[in-house]
Amino acid sequence: MKRWKIVLLVVIALFAAGAIYATVLVRRGFSARENPSWVEAFAAGIAKSLAVPATYRLKNPYAPTAENVREGEEHFADHCAICHANDGSGDALFGKGLYPKPPNMRDADTQNKSDGELYYTIANGVRLSGMPAFGPPSGSISGKDQPTGDAETWKLVLFIRHLPQITSEELEDMKKLNPKTEADRAEEQQEEEFLNGGEAPKRPAEGHQH
Ligand code: HEC
Repeated sequence: MKRWKIVLLVVIALFAAGAIYATVLVRRGFSARENPSWVEAFAAGIAKSLAVPATYRLKNPYAPTAENVREGEEHFADHCAICHANDGSGDALFGKGLYPKPPNMRDADTQNKSDGELYYTIANGVRLSGMPAFGPPSGSISGKDQPTGDAETWKLVLFIRHLPQITSEELEDMKKLNPKTEADRAEEQQEEEFLNGGEAPKRPAEGHQH
């Protein structure tokens, strides 16, 4: 047999095998309940690793020491709780009014994300949502001066990992760190003075309605 005939036969055989496999796939459907064949798993694995930025695969370079988690917690109370709530539930004034809503970060959906993925989300934000980009402007960790990324952002990732185990004492602490309006501060100060034996705090005029 001539060589071109052999090549042609091989090509036809491959096409036929491909067509049979495609028919089987279509008949069986793409239900996520069934385990995929190794061909599908292999192809999906390659596609996923091509689509995921290298950042996603990074491990947090900071250890979850009490101090590091605490730093993340302080930062979170100050910058993130307004939308995400101190406990990460998203049950906050701004969070409730947003669509898409901030997810409950204690749930598996968030906790199963890799460290790098959480870092990337915080650094770059989520387009077409209320989630802003935080940290150094480029949001990338490839910069020469920041070979391992922004420390504050990594500590926020540590704190997000800690959310499912957060204690009520920690939540009380965070309340003190939440941003306050001038009016909140003035009221707190009056209350404190009162408790220290000063004048009774002024209440808003009776009958005042919003
Ligand atoms: C103005 C509101 C707002 C602020 C402030 C905010 N976020 Fe978000 N965040 C959102 C919204 C809305 C989403 C959901 C976006 C989406 O649907 O993909 C989100 C999503 C996220 C996610 C992705 C969670 C997941 O499971 O995909 C992370 C992580 C996150 N925020 C961390 C933070 C951190 C850390 C801060 C503070 C430095 C912060 N956010 C501040 C609104 C906010």
